[in-house]
Amino acid sequence: MVDISPQLARLFREDLIVIDGSALRRPPLNQIQEVATAIDEMGRRSGIAQGLKGPNGAVAPVTQSFKLAGSSERLYILANGDSPRQLIGILKVGRKNLFHYDARGTMHQLQDQPSVLDFYVHEAFQRGGVGLSLFQAMLEHEETSAEALAYDRPSPKLIGFLRKHYHLAEFVPQQNNFVVFNRFFEKRAAPKQTAYDSVAARPLTARNNRRRFQ
Ligand code: COA
Repeated sequence: MVDISPQLARLFREDLIVIDGSALRRPPLNQIQEVATAIDEMGRRSGIAQGLKGPNGAVAPVTQSFKLAGSSERLYILANGDSPRQLIGILKVGRKNLFHYDARGTMHQLQDQPSVLDFYVHEAFQRGGVGLSLFQAMLEHEETSAEALAYDRPSPKLIGFLRKHYHLAEFVPQQNNFVVFNRFFEKRAAPKQTAYDSVAARPLTARNNRRRFQ
């Protein structure tokens, strides 16, 4: 748990708050250094819990306040207790452009796909339903469902969590490590295909040789 000062606790009158990048860049959040420190500490703990390491072997958190401030991602933060108030969970969502191959080998381009990017409940509270209440609150606020989301590098615990609470189990592993459950595609209209959607449909020569400058 991350203890927070009475000053920061005043921002946490509700148990759950949602912070996005633009809120972090303006008052009052950008005037309280502890906001960034608390986010960084929760992100660091999440990184440790998931075993995320950089090339130098140090923890490589997915959630860092300076990155959040420069993004359009949203961070849900759950607090607990009165005095001292403590932060006990985080859940970060954002949009990603993904290429995804479904079970039939059809490629889907998922543009601005809403994705779960980080999710952590303090060890002392895990397996007590805290993760579920945080996740449910996020779904309601985002007006979405668990199967409509992509999941960045989900840990075995998150895979178990989604199977237990949302009966999501089947997915096709991808090189980009994002998981999109098969049910996502079952509920969607047939995808718009390109000539390159599957190996079988791919022409032997390039479709056209126009040059593109992007
Ligand atoms: N081992 C296996 N499954 C686990 C688990 C563990 N240590 N902890 C939670 N789960 C899964 C199980 O399905 C569990 O149900 P069970 O206890 O009947 O087996 C279910 O989650 C519990 O749900 P809930 O209590 O609502 O979730 P939670 O508060 O434990 O939060 C996580 C879920 C994933 C956020 C939490 O376990 C966590 O922070 N894990 C470490 C970080 C992590 O892996 N994050 C995922 C990011 S990719």
